[in-house]
Amino acid sequence: MQKWVLGALMAALSVVIGPATAHGPIIIKFSHVTTPDTPKGVAAQKFAELADKYTFGRVKVEIYPNSQLYKDKEELEALQLGAVQMLAPSNSKFGPIGIKEFEVFDLPYILPDLATLRKVTDGVLGEKLLNLLEPKGMVGLAYWDNGFKVMSANKKLVAPADYRGLKFRIQSSKVLEAQFRALGAVPQVMAFSEVYQALQTGVVDGQENTPSNMYTQKMHEVQKYTTLTNHGYIGYVVVVNKKFWDELPSEIRDQLKQAMREATAFGNARSAQENADALDAMVKSGKTELVTLTPEQDAEMRKAMEPVYDDVGSRISKSLIEDFRKASGATH
Ligand code: LMR
Repeated sequence: MQKWVLGALMAALSVVIGPATAHGPIIIKFSHVTTPDTPKGVAAQKFAELADKYTFGRVKVEIYPNSQLYKDKEELEALQLGAVQMLAPSNSKFGPIGIKEFEVFDLPYILPDLATLRKVTDGVLGEKLLNLLEPKGMVGLAYWDNGFKVMSANKKLVAPADYRGLKFRIQSSKVLEAQFRALGAVPQVMAFSEVYQALQTGVVDGQENTPSNMYTQKMHEVQKYTTLTNHGYIGYVVVVNKKFWDELPSEIRDQLKQAMREATAFGNARSAQENADALDAMVKSGKTELVTLTPEQDAEMRKAMEPVYDDVGSRISKSLIEDFRKASGATH
């Protein structure tokens, strides 16, 4: 390309883009709590690559994984203050900042599979939930999957009675609190980055998480048994600081939306396999024994957790639970 053409193009671009990029690229600090080789870590990396590509290098996404910048609760505060621009907290973590509705995703056995989940997140209800974020200074850009949870402890967890009296680490969700109370266990809210040590030192006896989160934090090394309950789901809402987002030139916003759409499809297409691989690796390590439930045992677990729906009905609203079921096509 002729030099003057390039110069004219650059000048035109700088008018369109505005002063934000006059002194170098726009930086998006993306903080998260899992390792790079998790469903969230992989999707974040993909987004960074695509953001760079679609904005022609005008936006650089700096990823800070594994709680190296902020832990769970801090990262949401940091986003609201504008210290970082982007996060992907799990649905379970919005309660402490006053948005309890995302806890509907935590209800035990509400989602039989990822296809059902997609009907909710890709539909009107998914959009409605994202709109709740704006008054809190953030914009919801996408739903990212992790996957279904397993239970772990140093004791074999088969029947509801096995949970009685044990301390379980939970994310900061009242639904998860009610879930462990329904099992007669003692729930304890704790940041993700502290779980390994808490399990190792016996501060808590057990925990629930996806295989990919367990494996990458080495939790399986300090938990003798892992039970394949698939009782609940962990997924993320990708959020961006609203002021930062609104002030971006609109074509950059569009390019970032495109990058986000593709990163979401990329990550969500892989998450199930990543969790299956992590489960395999946990078993191969020989450090934790995998426990599977018979259909009768599974039914017992479901029954034990049924009261959770009534317990949290007034918190997250019965009509939201009903809407969620309708949106997911549930017939029960
Ligand atoms: C947890 O705290 O267990 C998870 O939400 C961590 C994560 O971001 O997947």
